[in-house]
Amino acid sequence: MSNVQNYQMPKGSPVRKLVAFKYLIPFAIFWYVSRYVRQKLIVLWFRVFGKYGFRKIGKDVVIDGLPSFIWPCSNIVLGDFVRIGKRCVFQGGPDSKINIGNKVTVNDGCFITALFGISIGDGSSIGEYTSIRDYNHKFDNPTIPIKEQDYYGSSIEIGKDCWIGRGCIILAGVKIGDGAVIGANSVVNKDVLPFSIVAGIPAKIIKMRE
Ligand SMILES: CC(C)(COP(=O)(O)OP(=O)(O)OC[C@H]1O[C@@H](n2cnc3c(N)ncnc32)[C@H](O)[C@@H]1OP(=O)(O)O)[C@@H](O)C(=O)NCCC(=O)NCCS
Repeated sequence: MSNVQNYQMPKGSPVRKLVAFKYLIPFAIFWYVSRYVRQKLIVLWFRVFGKYGFRKIGKDVVIDGLPSFIWPCSNIVLGDFVRIGKRCVFQGGPDSKINIGNKVTVNDGCFITALFGISIGDGSSIGEYTSIRDYNHKFDNPTIPIKEQDYYGSSIEIGKDCWIGRGCIILAGVKIGDGAVIGANSVVNKDVLPFSIVAGIPAKIIKMRE
């Protein structure tokens, strides 16, 4: 990347952040309050009625918009301080487990679908519109329509403190080591070394983190 500039995240109390909006402060307050109420109501709804979706919800979990579930009674565990973006889709069967660790962020529009198992380690971030899917259609019998054949695959493990870019697909059986970075729009079909940066279709190492 050329002409790289650094950007410092705004720090300080929420009041100092609000002051930056100047004459738009009332609108900013309305935006923050309505988002806060929406997120709290969604989490409350899942804690009270939503056992068919998330089996366990840790503390201070934020769910920004209603997720969809392809099957009922998904075995999905959300750790503490997890953030789930808008329009995410989950699929877990009675025999599969999706384990999302503490402080994981799953951005808008992600698909996390498991017939076997998917685990995401603490502190990892999943970029928007990424698909993590631990199975494929079987297609070995050309005389039977693909949709009528079974599925095959194996579980996916994503380590701690990984950053997965936008629009990636993580395919069945892949293990991503701790601290790895996956470039935007990558197709990850092989294991990824810890602290490596991979990108492309199929994803290959472009460099290692120092
Ligand atoms: C992977 C990434 C972090 C690498 O950034 P970087 O360290 O600055 O890497 P560079 O831009 O120097 O690229 C190094 C090489 O990898 C290639 N590359 C980088 N990202 C790539 C990608 N997503 N797909 C394919 N190739 C990629 C570059 O073309 C370059 O190749 P070259 O040496 O042949 O010219 C960044 O490119 C990226 O994809 N970021 C994800 C952004 C995103 O999705 N954000 C939203 C989610 S929160």
